[in-house]
Amino acid sequence: MIDLHCHILPGIDDGASDLTVSLEMARAFVEQDVTVVACTPHILPGLYHNTGDSIRTAVHNLQAVLDQEGIPLVLVPGADAHMAPDFIAGLRSGRVLSLADSRYVLVEPPHHTAPPQLEDFFFKLVVEGYVPILTHPERLSWVPSRYDTIKRLVSAGVWMQITAGSLAGGFGRNALYWAQRMLDEGIVHLLATDAHDAERRPPDLAMGRDLAADRVGAEEAQRLVETRPAGILKDDPPSSVPGPLEVGNGESLVRAETKRRDQVVGGGADDRLRGLSLRLRRLFQ
Ligand SMILES: [Fe+2]
Repeated sequence: MIDLHCHILPGIDDGASDLTVSLEMARAFVEQDVTVVACTPHILPGLYHNTGDSIRTAVHNLQAVLDQEGIPLVLVPGADAHMAPDFIAGLRSGRVLSLADSRYVLVEPPHHTAPPQLEDFFFKLVVEGYVPILTHPERLSWVPSRYDTIKRLVSAGVWMQITAGSLAGGFGRNALYWAQRMLDEGIVHLLATDAHDAERRPPDLAMGRDLAADRVGAEEAQRLVETRPAGILKDDPPSSVPGPLEVGNGESLVRAETKRRDQVVGGGADDRLRGLSLRLRRLFQ
């Protein structure tokens, strides 16, 4: 498995407080068969002044310690960058990092209010050739009243990353509901830990994958934690990475597009049968 959202770097944000915690987190990842972790510390003007250069240095230093300790985990650079007016300029200059220097970039919107220019912000990133990944939409308090916005973003090419812990109820009932609903509706592309330490917000990707599998089946769960993340690390275009699988009653935007394509080329029977069997299984659960 591959975790693309994690605060494992020691002492540079509200994640791992020191190297001991980073090593505990790294060992927990290895126990779960996680092989690659993106180090994604906060970049938040006024609070966390991390830059591309400082993150790369911290990744290099922690990797050296992991190698020394014989912990088989590969680290790649990234950032948990908050929405800011100079975001694209930051990406261009290297001050803000994408995931492993790919076209895929984590974007954290404000938690309590959707800024009026939200859609514009994401569309501009898409036009610039990036694939924005909106982090933990299930935990944003404005999502219930702006779910249509989330769906419009997905249909415009924005990816959604939900948090493993949300599926266990770790972020409350609302986050659990929205995480499950978005999975059901086939608009979730990635599952990640957003781990901050070894205990309170621990690396829990295996647990998240298993809970997702209960919801969308083992194959789609594996895509959430391995297939799509591996595509990101290779910087594959999103068109060559399998889209999310809808299992609920709602019509998935991504899925609808796949269905339309299948009708044109006459394929997709296996996928349709799989979708049907998942629906039937859910009915009798
Ligand atoms: Fe984060």
